[in-house]
Parts: sequence; structure tokens; C-alpha cells
Amino acid sequence: MGQTKGTMDAQKIQIFDTTLRDGEQVPGCKLNTSEKIEVAKRLEALGVDVIEAGFPISSPGDFASVEAIAKTIRSATICALSRAVEKDIQVAAESLKYAKFPRIHTGIGTSDSHIRFKLKSTQEQVLQRAEAAVRMAKQYVEDVEFYAEDAGRTELTFLARVCEVAVKAGATVLNIPDTTGYCLPEAYGSKIKYLKEHVKGIEKVTLSTHCHNDLGLATANSIAGIQNGARQIECTINGLGERAGNTALEEVVMIIKQYPDLHLQTNIDTRQLNTISKFVAETMRMPVQANKAIVGANAFAHSSGIHQDGVIKNRETYEIIDPVDVGVDHSSIVLTARSGRAALAHRFKLLGEDLTRDELDVVYQQFLKVADECLEVDDKALANLIEYKHQIAI
Ligand code: KIV
Ligand code: ZN
Repeated sequence: MGQTKGTMDAQKIQIFDTTLRDGEQVPGCKLNTSEKIEVAKRLEALGVDVIEAGFPISSPGDFASVEAIAKTIRSATICALSRAVEKDIQVAAESLKYAKFPRIHTGIGTSDSHIRFKLKSTQEQVLQRAEAAVRMAKQYVEDVEFYAEDAGRTELTFLARVCEVAVKAGATVLNIPDTTGYCLPEAYGSKIKYLKEHVKGIEKVTLSTHCHNDLGLATANSIAGIQNGARQIECTINGLGERAGNTALEEVVMIIKQYPDLHLQTNIDTRQLNTISKFVAETMRMPVQANKAIVGANAFAHSSGIHQDGVIKNRETYEIIDPVDVGVDHSSIVLTARSGRAALAHRFKLLGEDLTRDELDVVYQQFLKVADECLEVDDKALANLIEYKHQIAI
């Protein structure tokens, strides 16, 4: 389990999964309690460090799910979300009563837009509420994570002040969400670096990334965050989450694995990624796009002649990840009208049919006719081509 390839001195990146909270907020993705328990068990087996199980004040059903997950999961930390509101925090604490490792996640909007339009408040009041929320959560649990909502658009010096207040009040983790997916990777990374350098007491806490994907930058921003000192990534299976989604767990984990020079590691058993992706897609009724990195149906499928020829000679010509590492048995050679002779001969060989060069030339011409008529030459069409080969008996 985990990843150690060339990373003897690798630092641990905590994987905080919020599929059951941020992911479940997506319209149509709602789960019942037993489905949520099953997802949580699979996340635990996958090796995630923290499972954000829900937002208990939001509904009795969500409270019951968080409580049931807290009773079931024994190795991962169970986290419950709350706003910086007394009742929210009390209810979150109550839902976590049975957790072996409970964490309350509390916070407040810190950007000008959130303070002015959403909270109709002032920076000073936000500082007070942040401090009070963390202090209150601390009365119930030792592990308190503070989020500065819309940190991505929050002016740096104020963000540092809020973080400092939260640290002083006892926060163990500081979450710096790019709530609207606004930041460029360099800007997000600089934000984390600035906080590391300017917040008093920051060395006592873990900095966390929570990046949304509105500009398709969630993964890049999360990686920029850990390159600049964050040690927790908040993410979801298949990148589920509000609007364009959250950082995809499978992507950040595989980036960390593929780049030993980062000297970072996670506890994720990557061989389970494909299975859990399929399970979450099915249970949450949210299909994965075919070209999705790591877990999409085409992630290890090769269809153009040039690529197929390369992969047949050596997989690494067109693949940077060994499919077995993410739980996919093997790469696939898809036969289409763009496929070449090498791919056709390869598929024939897998079916126990060796072709001479002359046979291949003739069968390939027939193959192209068939391929032009359909999207993909499947096994049935291939069987017909074998029949054709036997008939022509060159
Ligand atoms: O995107 C966000 O800011 C959030 C917080 C509630 C952590 O999901
Ligand atoms: Zn979010």
C-alpha cells in the first residue's frame, strides 16, 4: 500500500476526501445512509486519511449518515462540516460522538464579495466569528479544521490575519479553498507560500488545499499548493463537486506517484482507483467522461495506427502510467478505421491467429471496408474477418 518509489525521505500528503459532502451536493448525486456507509468503507480501504462525511445541520438524513459513518469507520478521521454558527457546530459535534478520530470543519467567507454580499458584515466581525467558531469547536474535539471560504479571491494580508486568529484559537488544520476555481496555479501556490511565511504559529498546523474546477485548474492548483507547503489535499472521487467539480483524488494521487522528485507520498492504494471510480459513478449516478484522466474508459485505449504500433512495440511509447497501477488489467488496442496493420495483426494474434505478410495485406483491405462502416471493429466483426481469412486461404 502507499507509494515509496524512490522517495525514502518523502513527506506525507494527507488525502481528505469530500465525495460524501462537496461531491454529494451535486444535483442528482444524493445518496442514502447505507450507500454513504458503503462509499465510506471503500474510501477507508483505499487509504484516505480523512473522510468528510457530510454537513450534519443541513438535514436529519445527513446527520444520521455522518453518525452512522462515525460508528463504522475506525481508521480514517471522520470530519463534519459546519458554518461559523453555534448551532451548526453543536450538531456537527453531536454527529461525531462515536467517531474514533473526529474532526469539526468550520469556517466563514473571507473575500470582500462574501463579506459584503453574502454575510453583509465587516472584516472585523468575520475575524471575531472565525475565532469564536474555532474556540467553540475546540470544546468538543481536539481536531478542528478552519476554512476561509473564497480564500482564492481573498486579499492576502486579510487572509493571513484570519488564519492567524484561527491558529491562535486552536485550529489544527487551515483550509485555503479556491471556492470559485478562480486562481491560476502560480497565484494559488504563492498564496500558500505567503501564509507559510507570514502567519504566526503556522508551523503547528497543516495547510490544506480545496480547489474547485471552474477553469479546469483544480488539480494544477492543488499540486501548486503542495509544492509550496500545503500538506493536505481536499478532493473527490472522479472530481465530483459543486458546479465544475472539485479536485479529482485519482489525479493528484497519481501525479504524486508519477513524480518521485516531488518527495511526497500518499497512503492511497492506487490499484483500487479504477474500481472505486466505477462504484462512485454508478452509485451517485454521475457517469465518468470517456477521456477523463486516470479513470476514463479511454485512459488506456489506443486507437490511431501510429500510437498502436508504438504501444505494441513498447507500452511506454504512449503511456506514462502502467494501467495495472490504477487497477486496469491492460491497455487496449481499439480497432477503428484509423488503425494500422500492426494493430490488426496484434488482435488476430491474441485470438490465436497468426497472419503472414500477404494474408495481412489482403485481410487489412477488408478490415478497412468494415471499419469505415462502424465506429469500432468489435470481436464479432473480427470473428467474421477470421472467417474471411480462412476462406481466402492465401
Ligand atoms: O468550496 C468551499 O469553499 C467549500 C468549503 C465549505 C470548505 O466547500
Ligand atoms: Zn468546496
